[in-house]
This record gives sequence, C-alpha cells and structure tokens, in this order.
Amino acid sequence: MPLLLLLPALLWALPVQATDIPLATVVRFNTLCATCHEGECSGRLSFDSGIRATENHIRRHAGDVPPDVLGDLARLLVHTKQACSYYPMAIEIPKDGRWDSGTLALLHNAKENAWFVPLGHLPAGRYRATLRQNGPIEGVAQIISERFDIADFPLHCPEDGQIAFVFAVDRGSFHFLRFRSTRNQALSSLEIRRAD
Ligand code: HEC
Repeated sequence: MPLLLLLPALLWALPVQATDIPLATVVRFNTLCATCHEGECSGRLSFDSGIRATENHIRRHAGDVPPDVLGDLARLLVHTKQACSYYPMAIEIPKDGRWDSGTLALLHNAKENAWFVPLGHLPAGRYRATLRQNGPIEGVAQIISERFDIADFPLHCPEDGQIAFVFAVDRGSFHFLRFRSTRNQALSSLEIRRAD
C-alpha cells in the first residue's frame, strides 16, 4: 500500500489522550455514532472499505463537519474499540444528583436533539430519574452501564412539566443517561434519586 494512503490510518490509530477531545464532539459521538457503534470492542479498525469511504461514512452521518472534528469523531471510534468504554467526559458530576439547565446545555447535541449525561458510579439498587422541560416531554431515555447494557424508557408526557421513570442497577458501575427528544424544548433539569 502506498505510504500516503497508510498515513491517515496510522494517525487515527495513535492512542487517544484522555479528555483532549472537546466535550461537544464527545457528546455528538455518544448521541449519534455510538447508537450503532456501541460496544464494539474488537481493538482495532478494519478500514475494509478504505479511508475515503470511512470519511464519507462519517460525513453522511455527522454532516459537513470541519476536518478536526471529523478526525476527533474517527478517534472516538478508535477509543471505543480499544478501551471498550466511553471516552472520559470533562465535566463535573453533581454530588446531589441534580443537573441544572446550564450543565445539561453542555451535554446537549443540538443537531440530533439528544443529551448524554454521565451519572457517575451508581451502586446496585433502584433509582428514579426525573426530567423537567418547559413543555411536553417526548422521546426515548436510555440508561447505559459502563459495560454497554442498555435499558430503554419511552417517555410520553403531553402535559407541560415533568416525567419520571424508575430503573434498576443490578451491578454497581458507572452509568450514563442518553435522552433523544422529539420535541424542541431544552431540558431544564434532571434528578437521579434512590427509589428503594
Ligand atoms: C446507522 C448506523 C451507523 C451510524 C449512525 C454510524 N455508523 Fe460508522 N459504521 C457503521 C457500519 C455498519 C460500519 C461498517 C462496519 C464496521 O466497521 O463497523 C461503520 C464503519 C465505520 C468506521 C470504519 C470502521 C473500521 O473498522 O474500519 C468508522 C471510523 C465509523 N464507522 C465511524 C462513525 C462515526 C464517527 C459515526 C458518527 C458520525 C458513525 N460511524 C455513525 C454504522 C454506523
């Protein structure tokens, strides 16, 4: 293979430094790309269809992103495959289990209207998640464990305000919440509390 073709593949295969990829790109990857690439832990990229095809593939899903974002999105897939985990997110997890609108805005991907919230380590047990929005809430919330176990919670609240659902954690580990909304309102708060 000519060196020029090999070079981008080698660049992408470099180990990804923790948290040097901007949070917004990580949120975009976790709400868009991860829905297909979640739990791919093969350790390496195959590039079976070639670098050019991979670039086109990323642009088809992400739209016309700048080259550095495109590179970061590709590196996030490398990280998924090598570390078999989500990329570390540079944001503090509130100790009281309440996320305000400012924090949630940083965890929002406006293009796909979805949020990806690191919930921190949740010990085994039952939890109640409460979402608030200035208007009707509709969409699908997912609770995802560090090992990519995913539980779906379709949410449908035609009235203004708030909706809650209860989820169980069988084995204590780091957890995430992904919420894809079919409405245009921003989340105004999220609360996670023990329910037992
Ligand atoms: C609808 C499902 C879907 C979405 C969404 C998606 N992909 Fe893919 N992607 C695939 C499939 C299927 C392949 C080919 C099989 C494979 O290598 O995993 C692929 C291949 C790739 C490859 C080449 C993998 C390799 O081993 O050579 C990269 C890199 C990639 N995707 C990155 C992304 C990024 C970044 C996003 C988000 C912008 C994304 N994909 C969104 C389904 C998807």
